[in-house]
Amino acid sequence: MAMNFFKEGHWSSPRKTIANRFADDDYGYVYHAGILFSEFLRASDISAGKARGMSLLDYGCGTGRVARFFSMIFGEVYGYDPVPECITESDAEGKRVEMFPRQPKLFTSNIQDITKKFDIIVSINVFEHLDAPRFGVALGNITNLLKNDAACYLWVHKIKNADFFAKHNLSLPESNVSIVKGTKKSGQLIFSESNILKK
Ligand SMILES: C[S@@+](CC[C@H](N)C(=O)[O-])C[C@H]1O[C@@H](n2cnc3c(N)ncnc32)[C@H](O)[C@@H]1O
Repeated sequence: MAMNFFKEGHWSSPRKTIANRFADDDYGYVYHAGILFSEFLRASDISAGKARGMSLLDYGCGTGRVARFFSMIFGEVYGYDPVPECITESDAEGKRVEMFPRQPKLFTSNIQDITKKFDIIVSINVFEHLDAPRFGVALGNITNLLKNDAACYLWVHKIKNADFFAKHNLSLPESNVSIVKGTKKSGQLIFSESNILKK
């Protein structure tokens, strides 16, 4: 089946494309991010005590709305999004939405700015929008940026990302979108579960 994937330009008006029903509603937009954050917590089962000692990268962070929630419990949080307009909007949003006691350490649209490796990488609602070449680059970057034995959590779509499920011998979840956990072993990502969370 031919799929319609987005190129980066699609996201250059981030609030209108990431969650357009909240384009002019900061707190609705943040509330929606809180739901995504709680999905991650349920999928990963990481206690707040453990999280405090961990670094996390939000890959494809958009305007950083979920990264701000991650900052509340993780020791060090970075947000990366290749679309510069997302990072610009993130700065503005961070100043307007004053409910977070801590903020991520870095938001960037330049992957070269990220010079460390992470305990966790999360990518929320990104992979379902990427064509095969972009999908490959994103997975390669995540592999490079994870510490060995560390895990990534990727939101994937069983139809749009069907090739991924087949390649990694993952059973198909009931729901269209699910969170897949990958663990880095000997420099490679091993995906073991395809149905951590049903939406
Ligand atoms: C649906 S939005 C999700 C944003 C954010 N994760 C959230 O939940 O608010 C998809 C994001 O993927 C980003 N994106 C687009 N192409 C990408 C790529 N090749 N690699 C990583 N992220 C990409 C977009 O700029 C956009 O911010």
